[in-house]
Amino acid sequence: MSLDQNLNKILIVDFGSQFTQLIARRIRELGIFSEIISHKKIKNKDINYTVKGIILSGGPLNVYQINKYSFDKKIIQKGVPVLGICFGHQIISKLNGGKVKQSKHREFGLANISKKNNSLLIKNLFNKKKSIKVWMSHADQVSKLPKNFKIIASSQNSKFAVVENRLKNYYGVQFHPEVTHTENGKKLISNFIFLICKMRKNWSSKDQKIKLIKDVRKMVGDNKVICALSGGVDSSVVAQLLNKAIGKNLHCIFVNTGLLRKNEEKQVVATFKKRLKINLTYVNAEREFIRKLTNISDPEKKRKIIGNLFIKIFERYAKKIKNVKFLAQGTLYPDLIESRSVTGSQTSKIKSHHNVGGLPKKMKLKLVEPLKFLFKDEVRKLGLELNLSKEIISRHPFPGPGLAIRMPGIITKEKINILKEADHYFIQALRDHNLYHKIWQAYAALLPVKTVGVMGDNRTYEYLCLLRAITSEDGMTADFYEFKKSFIQEISNKIVNSIRGINRVVYDITSKPPSTIELE
Ligand code: XMP
Repeated sequence: MSLDQNLNKILIVDFGSQFTQLIARRIRELGIFSEIISHKKIKNKDINYTVKGIILSGGPLNVYQINKYSFDKKIIQKGVPVLGICFGHQIISKLNGGKVKQSKHREFGLANISKKNNSLLIKNLFNKKKSIKVWMSHADQVSKLPKNFKIIASSQNSKFAVVENRLKNYYGVQFHPEVTHTENGKKLISNFIFLICKMRKNWSSKDQKIKLIKDVRKMVGDNKVICALSGGVDSSVVAQLLNKAIGKNLHCIFVNTGLLRKNEEKQVVATFKKRLKINLTYVNAEREFIRKLTNISDPEKKRKIIGNLFIKIFERYAKKIKNVKFLAQGTLYPDLIESRSVTGSQTSKIKSHHNVGGLPKKMKLKLVEPLKFLFKDEVRKLGLELNLSKEIISRHPFPGPGLAIRMPGIITKEKINILKEADHYFIQALRDHNLYHKIWQAYAALLPVKTVGVMGDNRTYEYLCLLRAITSEDGMTADFYEFKKSFIQEISNKIVNSIRGINRVVYDITSKPPSTIELE
């Protein structure tokens, strides 16, 4: 499935910047559709009538490493307005006869730029101020401006911090307007797309809903689609979207692994089967999972067992539904973007992630991935547009292997029950104190150590409960959340006093890196 070929857009050519996705998000937040394409893949013919503007991203390369084979100059010679950001700015200069060299003073972090000339690109950016703060991150810079380019703003170290060639519709900025540290950065992007590219808004959750429902109907026709529902945001939005599009031809399967949060299976059935009337098969596989996990304590083994068993059970039930042609998955846009391939770097495998995606290859089903052009925040907004509750949409992420990886050591039914209770009290306390939505992810874990305590006049010898609560943008990096002493004290008392089996609570204050968010 692809997005409407006729939708006007801003095309972002990715040269490997860590901020490329942010550029696309900023543009979409402004109500305009944007797509990212690698500089290695873009062809001259991609610049068709729907492309109303081109943005060349930043990147780790040096402009002299980009030869004509890896980036065709004609791409920016079609009269479509072009904005170059950092490396993109240097490329525009180089391709037009300017020069780029290593800066004497590298600029990383905040710098002040001051206005030298008027331009649509900086309209209302400076207001009455003489200078604004921008976020720089570069080692090279333009050292000689090509002919017919004008300086719009300069910083102390970058004379050509903002430049333009009005005639050719070229604009360049040495800093990163897409990051929030740049003052009025979004305004600059907005000036580019509305004043220079003259675009009209075409991207809202309502537009997406209507379009995606139409696309799904066109793609699957009268055929049946299966979907593994986990109750998490992505699979919930996919299920509800398909429910609206094809109703009873959608068959969702929800597998209760016994490793879910307290009452989660009841909530999923109540929401999807009872409230939203989705065609849902509930599979209680609790016993099978516990049996397979008996005496397993190695984290990777746990993950593999759970992932494989999940697929086996899913297939078992999917086969009972006759004439299925499609499998729906909640793949998101960041999964598709190959920006990291620009530098060729590959991060080593830390954990083998498992979720309901990637299922099941053997069945030879065609994939329906309606969210594959959306970012997570867009999926959330679409979910609300589809009538899913805020409760489902803004839930903290929950890993596929569930409580198994929050319980280092062996897994027993007794430990699962203790952990479910502790986690429930913790999450409830976060909600009661209006902290839940300030935190990106929080959970309780049960550590495989017993320690001594005293309750009343009696000695106890029970498990250690670990609480983790982090703030994050995307789960790639994270920091621990700083609770007030009174809150942490209250929840510690609640857990120890209410749950038999736990007599001590600790709070995890490591960030990611060096730790990961989950324990295993
Ligand atoms: P880590 O522990 O790798 O977690 O720092 C980053 C984010 O990913 C989630 N996570 C998973 N999600 N299947 C998933 O769907 C998995 O196997 C899995 N392992 C970790 C984790 O909860 C956090 O949000």
